[in-house]
Amino acid sequence: MEIGIDKIGFYAPDLYMDMRELAVARGIEPDKFTIGIGQEKMAIAPITQDTVTLAANAALNLLDEKDKEAIDLVIFGTETGIDQSKSAAVYVHELLGLDPVARSFEIKQACYGATAGIQMAKGHVALNPDSKVLVLASDIAKYGLNSPGESTQGAGAVALVISANPKIMVLENNSAYLTSDIMDFWRPTYSDMAFVDGKFSNEQYILFFETVWKQYKAKSGLGFKDFEALCFHVPYTKMGLKALKPVLEEEGTTEDQKRMLENYQKSIQYNKIVGNIYTGSLYLSLLSLLEQKEELKEGSRIGLFSYGSGAVGEFFTGIMQPGYQTQLNTIQNTDRLSSRRKISVEEYESIFKQELPVDGSTIELDIEKDSAAICLAGMSENKRQYINKRTYGSN
Ligand code: CAA
Repeated sequence: MEIGIDKIGFYAPDLYMDMRELAVARGIEPDKFTIGIGQEKMAIAPITQDTVTLAANAALNLLDEKDKEAIDLVIFGTETGIDQSKSAAVYVHELLGLDPVARSFEIKQACYGATAGIQMAKGHVALNPDSKVLVLASDIAKYGLNSPGESTQGAGAVALVISANPKIMVLENNSAYLTSDIMDFWRPTYSDMAFVDGKFSNEQYILFFETVWKQYKAKSGLGFKDFEALCFHVPYTKMGLKALKPVLEEEGTTEDQKRMLENYQKSIQYNKIVGNIYTGSLYLSLLSLLEQKEELKEGSRIGLFSYGSGAVGEFFTGIMQPGYQTQLNTIQNTDRLSSRRKISVEEYESIFKQELPVDGSTIELDIEKDSAAICLAGMSENKRQYINKRTYGSN
């Protein structure tokens, strides 16, 4: 049975920060952010968007009634969850009106969470061929104002439907993976902000790619010539390139190098203007390739490198399906990204400092300013209240 990605949706909040303006405010040469790091814009989540709403908005327009009937598993990958006990998947399950006969849970391993979810979804569909699985990847990346990681923040979510006979991409079985206990990036339960050893994290990302690529080649007997494109986890758009280039220069023909580098550029168009969305970043890069490259030939192979600090890495592959374009919402996605509102550094800093109550008190949030259908409307007695403006229902 062939199993893989049947649908893919995306949501980023409607506010962004221009990286050049942020650089000037921090006394940094703007080219460092736009060329050295490779980021042009950074999505900023208003207080009315959290990890749950971003994911629900990503999935909202994706699912039809048949999907809703068939989905019996919701897996939510995140490293910026909103509750240490209840999973974000349960909130999204309700907000989307999914069938109650379903398993829903959250999964965590830094930016690797959604990949773990996809591999688990494959196993579930193999055992239950009529089932569909909703895999959500949603995060708000925060390192802190004026911190070295500030230029690599972002916010957004990707939603994927995994099923048998998928219409976008069949996932192959030759995955290569690796676990190593390292401290390159972590966030203790008492901290809203991530801690990071930036240079070490870059080195480990590169090392993990080299290692799983080698392992994959030994397992599969395949190499660059067998690939149309490689998509990477993209904390910032220069990162994937730093890992790809040395290996490509050593092993790839001139033709391989040209094809891989051209397609890498297509695969980072969305990441460049959204920023790091942690566990969704690899899938945002895949979506960028699918929507920004004119055509990927039927049967062509795409490689995916997933990296979650701490650390787990995986290289896996998929085969493009005929007519995959009919499953995409390119115009809607590009329109929404280009109609976002630019905010000033002052507004960004003020949003960054906003906090929800932690003492059980009640707050009502102004959801009129947020164009998203699903918003966080407030909090009371330590419970978040969500609203879907389309149905005026809340939970
Ligand atoms: N014009 C052009 N380029 C310039 C420049 C200028 N004026 N000034 C500097 N640069 C270049 C530098 O030469 C450098 O390029 P290379 O990397 O190719 O050498 C690049 O800009 C970045 O400069 P620095 O290394 O000096 O930047 P930094 O010390 O500010 O740190 C960072 C960069 C380590 C990525 C930091 O932003 C950070 O810690 N980010 C968070 C961690 C992260 O994203 N790690 C990635 C791997 S871990 C992961 O992937 C998991 C995850 O999602 C977190």
